[in-house]
Amino acid sequence: MTGSLAPSTGQRHAALLGIGSYRASRVVPNSELVDAIDSSDEWIQQRSGIKSRRWATPEETVQMMSVNASRKAIEHAGIDVAQVDAVIVATVSHMLQTPAVATAIAHELGADRPAAFDISAACAGFCHGVSLASDMVRGGSAKHVLVIGVERLSDITDVTDRGTAFIFADGAGAAVVGPSDEPGIGPVVWGSDGEQFDLIRQREDWRDVIVAEDPRMPHLVMQGNAVFRWAAFEMAKVAQQTLDRSGISADQLDVFVPHQANMRITDAMARSMKLPAHVRIARDIAEQGNSSAASIPLALDRMIADGEARSGDLALLIAFGAGLAYAAQVVRVP
Ligand code: UT7
Repeated sequence: MTGSLAPSTGQRHAALLGIGSYRASRVVPNSELVDAIDSSDEWIQQRSGIKSRRWATPEETVQMMSVNASRKAIEHAGIDVAQVDAVIVATVSHMLQTPAVATAIAHELGADRPAAFDISAACAGFCHGVSLASDMVRGGSAKHVLVIGVERLSDITDVTDRGTAFIFADGAGAAVVGPSDEPGIGPVVWGSDGEQFDLIRQREDWRDVIVAEDPRMPHLVMQGNAVFRWAAFEMAKVAQQTLDRSGISADQLDVFVPHQANMRITDAMARSMKLPAHVRIARDIAEQGNSSAASIPLALDRMIADGEARSGDLALLIAFGAGLAYAAQVVRVP
């Protein structure tokens, strides 16, 4: 054996340094969707908590929304874009499968040729990205990582499907993860259950679409009730494990930001965790809908803007969805 490899050495701690978001501009009220799915505004609000959702215009591409959210996150972090040395984009709705949209976003931002790649963990994507970024900063492979969760789910939503037409939405959220004197991102609790792979998925893959007599987008389909039960029961346990692993009690928590999947899931988790009344709970879904990988940073950014989450607060993030895949961590609000 010859030579010895230099060890990679990173920062002692990592934290969220800044956050930013971009909401797709078109407000789509329930009333616009109900006729095609034989539903009602009342049913949708009662079952999901959604009053309206945001859908993107043609100009609001995955790249455009990501760049806008990222500029705000970089400004909030108080760093120069040249300091971003890695970009992670979590998305399932960038229609060009390759190359990764992360490289184009980095280029448009004017970053200095950072590492840039996409990850696919559906609604859990942002929390996966934050965990990777935290490990990268502490492991020494990057110092400032831009993590983006972005979706244009309206492109792959069947507006005639009763089970999904009213749920999905579009937007982008971004966070800068970088060095910190104190731990700002707690240990991740994450995992998957591939036995339930089919519960939320695209109806078919692109090869089936191409050979079909009547080609159509491979829309998302979901066995909503089974997902609901899994999310409400299993994810409450994961949320509790995350607090335990972080050494944080529910009393010490300030903010709870679950994936904005369904207001009833949020309420069931909060009840099951016995969250004290002082914990502010993200309820962005009412006006945003479920924007998958973008939902948590969009919700947290709104809470910061509304004064419900303050810098230094402890926030529990928990994301879950197709795969089934999930990831959760406690973070300090930047
Ligand atoms: O982001 C990834 C993770 N995703 C989630 O976590 C989503 C989880 N699932 C859900 O949010 C809920 O399952 C939905 C909101 C999608 C549906 O609510 P549900 O309470 O699970 O409804 P269900 O599918 O059990 O259907 C209940 C009833 C049925 O009628 P009957 O059989 O009780 O007479 C359905 O036919 O509601 C009926 N129904 C509707 N009625 C009006 C189903 N969809 C609709 C609709 N409008 N759109």
